[in-house]
Amino acid sequence: MQSSSTSKDDEENALLNSLPKARFWNIVELRQWDGYWFEPGLLKSAITFRSSFHARNDDVLLASPIKTGTTWLKSLSLCIMTRNLQTLDEDEEDDILTKGSPHFHVPTVEISVYSTEEAAPPRAAIYEAAASAAAPRLLHTHLPYAVLPDSVKESEGCKIVYIARNPKDTLISMWHFLNSQFETLTDGGGGGGPFPLEDAVDCFCSGVHIYGSFFDHVAEYWAESRKRPEKILFVKYEDLKCEPKRYVSEIAEFLGRPFGEEDEVGVNEVLRRCSLERLKNLEVNKTGSVVFPCPNSSYFRKGEVGDSKNYLTAEMERRIDETSRLKLEPFGLFL
Ligand code: A3P
Repeated sequence: MQSSSTSKDDEENALLNSLPKARFWNIVELRQWDGYWFEPGLLKSAITFRSSFHARNDDVLLASPIKTGTTWLKSLSLCIMTRNLQTLDEDEEDDILTKGSPHFHVPTVEISVYSTEEAAPPRAAIYEAAASAAAPRLLHTHLPYAVLPDSVKESEGCKIVYIARNPKDTLISMWHFLNSQFETLTDGGGGGGPFPLEDAVDCFCSGVHIYGSFFDHVAEYWAESRKRPEKILFVKYEDLKCEPKRYVSEIAEFLGRPFGEEDEVGVNEVLRRCSLERLKNLEVNKTGSVVFPCPNSSYFRKGEVGDSKNYLTAEMERRIDETSRLKLEPFGLFL
C-alpha cells in the first residue's frame, strides 16, 4: 500500500512537472505557477503554506520581493512589536537583535517554516520561535499576493507590511547576492565569475527570476494596499532611507504600537538598533546561516540608494526603465 506522504509527493511532483519551466541564470530551472516563477522546492512549500496556514487575527505578515530591504523591515518590525518587553535604552543585553539574526526571529514561512528541503535549518525550532513570539506572531513571506493563503487575505485583523524598492537597485542587490551564494555553493570555485549582468537584466525584465516578475509582485501588492489600506501598508525602501523617523512611526502606528507624540527617544533607539552598520557588526550576523546556504552576513552589503548607477550601462538602465514604465507607471510607482 502506498503511504499518504508518498502519494502527496507524487501529486506535487506531477504538478511541478506539468508547469511551464524556464532556466534562471545558471542556477536552477524555475516553474511558473499562478503567473509567477518559483524555485521548485520553494513552490512545494508555498503550496503547503497556502493550503494549511491559518491566519490569526493578530498575526503580522511582512512581505517583499527579494532584495528590497526585507532584513531591515524584519528588524524594525521586531523592535517595534517587542518594545514592551525591552527597555529600549542603550542596554545591548536587552536587545533581541543581539540574540539571533532577524531571519531567525522572523522566519520567511515558505523557506524556514513550511520547507520540505532536508538541508533546511531545524524547522521545528524556527517554527517554535515564531509561535512562541505567540500573540502576535511576526512572520514573513516573499510570495506574491496572488498566492497568499485565503485565511491571510480574509482575516480582518491579520495585517501585512510590504516593502518595495526601486527596480534598478533591487536588481543590482540581487545580482551581488546570488553571485555570492553561487560562489558559496561551489565552494568558492565559482567557475567563471559573476553571471553576466546583461543576461541578469534580461531575466529581470522578462520576469523570469525567483518570485518574479518583480514588477507584477510590486504592482499587485500596491493595488491591494490601495483597496485595503487598513490591511496592507506599502512601504518604499527609499522613503525609509530618506525619512526614517516618519516611516518607522507610520509602521508602528499601522501595527497598533504607536510611539507617543513625545517618544522621539523610542523611535531613535529603534533606528539605531536596526541600522545597517550596527546589524552588520553584531556577532549573530557575522557568523552562521539561518537560511541555508546563505551566510547571515550576506544580507548586509551597502544599503545605498542609487548604487545601481555604478554597475548598469545606459542601455541596461533604458531597458529596465522601459519595463518599469510599462508595468509600474500606471500606479505612479518608481517613476
Ligand atoms: P544592497 O545589496 O543594495 O546593499 P533583503 O534584506 O531584502 O535581502 O535586502 C538586502 C538589501 O538591504 C541589501 O542592499 C542590504 O545591504 C540592505 N540592508 C540590509 N540591512 C539593512 C539595514 N538595516 N538598513 C538598510 N539597508 C539594509
